[in-house]
Amino acid sequence: MDTLTYFINLAYVASAALFIFGLKLLGHPDSARKGNFVSAIGMFIAVVVTLMDQQIINFHWIVIGVVVGGAIGAWKAKTVEMTAMPEMVSLFNGFGGMASLLVGWATISGMTEEQLLAADGGLFVATFLTIMIGAVTFSGSFIAWGKLSGKMNSKAIIFDGLRLVSLGHLIALTILVVLFTLQPDVGIWLYLTIIVALSFGILATISIGGADMPVVIALLNSYSGVAAAAAGIAIDNTILVVTGLLVGASGLILTNIMCKAMNRSLLNVLLSGFAKPPEMGEKIEGEVKIMSSSDAFYVLEAAQSVLVVPGYGMAVAQAQHAVRELQDLLEENNCAVEYAIHAVAGRMPGHMNVLLAEADVPYEQLFEMDDVNPRMENYDVAIVIGANDVVNPAAKEMKGSPIYGMPVIEVYRAKTVFVLKRSANAGFAGVDNPLFFKENTRMVLGDAKDTLNNIIRDFSTD
Ligand code: TAP
Repeated sequence: MDTLTYFINLAYVASAALFIFGLKLLGHPDSARKGNFVSAIGMFIAVVVTLMDQQIINFHWIVIGVVVGGAIGAWKAKTVEMTAMPEMVSLFNGFGGMASLLVGWATISGMTEEQLLAADGGLFVATFLTIMIGAVTFSGSFIAWGKLSGKMNSKAIIFDGLRLVSLGHLIALTILVVLFTLQPDVGIWLYLTIIVALSFGILATISIGGADMPVVIALLNSYSGVAAAAAGIAIDNTILVVTGLLVGASGLILTNIMCKAMNRSLLNVLLSGFAKPPEMGEKIEGEVKIMSSSDAFYVLEAAQSVLVVPGYGMAVAQAQHAVRELQDLLEENNCAVEYAIHAVAGRMPGHMNVLLAEADVPYEQLFEMDDVNPRMENYDVAIVIGANDVVNPAAKEMKGSPIYGMPVIEVYRAKTVFVLKRSANAGFAGVDNPLFFKENTRMVLGDAKDTLNNIIRDFSTD
């Protein structure tokens, strides 16, 4: 082994170690930033070393690529709204898929006819998978981005024969893998694979409703990793295989966590558009009791234990700093404050954790649903801040409800519940919420941040 190859392999091992260490650090909000940075260094080393190793392009282009790509990435990261993160992740997945597609394509087109005929069949299977999964990921991710960003209708698009057409695509891809592997020198199989795979990615995603898009994005993230791993095999690049598998596995784990938190199977999510619409269940009867923020203050002033349950509305209102301020005032008043975080609260995994970490809420005060539900009766007040579906008792009580069976934070068992939102309207799932009509619930209507600031003002002037 010459010195350069030795150095390159060493650099690959170092960047693989940095990825794994980075992932470990990402597991805790306190170290997540460091984890991101460590992984970025690993990626930088991997990119530069790969380009040196393969002698693909000269250093001018590497520097231009790093500067231009880095500047666009930094600008997007600075300007993206927290609530638009899932769309951004979707775009990243799409570009990842496209990159794999191009790598696969370049691998084949860079070979002479003799090289193609002499090469091993395994190489063509890997290249086919790179191109196919890359194309599915690319088109699927762009549809997911369109649905999440509101650029296209987020409803599931279903037409007669959709299943048959999708099945036709799968059969075509199965035939194409054989033709492509046996006759890699015939360009038409490559182009057909790209077209059919792009079309399949669109069909598979349009039939899924916007509500399930975050799960689909996690799955597409996993696909982009698998495509990259296949590309790594095709071009014999170890670090690409390692990175691809890390992304593939973590995407799959995330998909599984999200499905579990919604009490759904992955198949149920993927075929959701074909399911018959659920009945809305019994009508909710009762009266919504509205409370002013100053009355809410009097109750909180007397409370000894408070549970805060944040949801998507806290992100919209950017109320996390006000929440933290209220926490300090309550604690100064000898009231214990805890937070309950539902795995799918907000619009992306860890959404609430990130916002609360930004407001310096101590991680030790954050609890999962299974920790707080058994002791719910002990809380004097549960303050629901812009959450709706994740605290909806219909999931437990109403058999006909579309969310029946989903595990929820059972705030309705607390002594008193304050719901801070702007109206009694439904949440993301579009399901009415019987919590608002419960005897012990008070709705404090308005923007969550304004309401919290009013309560904080009352505490400060008391
Ligand atoms: P949602 O059920 O979406 O409810 C959020 C509530 O926030 C809305 O009902 C809205 O009510 C209120 N809101 C909006 N802006 C507000 C503001 N400025 N001030 C106060 N309230 C405001 O949220 P959730 O309980 O967090 O549940 C998340 C949903 O997303 C679940 O259905 C979940 O399955 C789905 N989902 C999440 C994920 C991830 S990974 N997080 C993934 C897939 C699906 P008003 O309009 O009345 O104010």
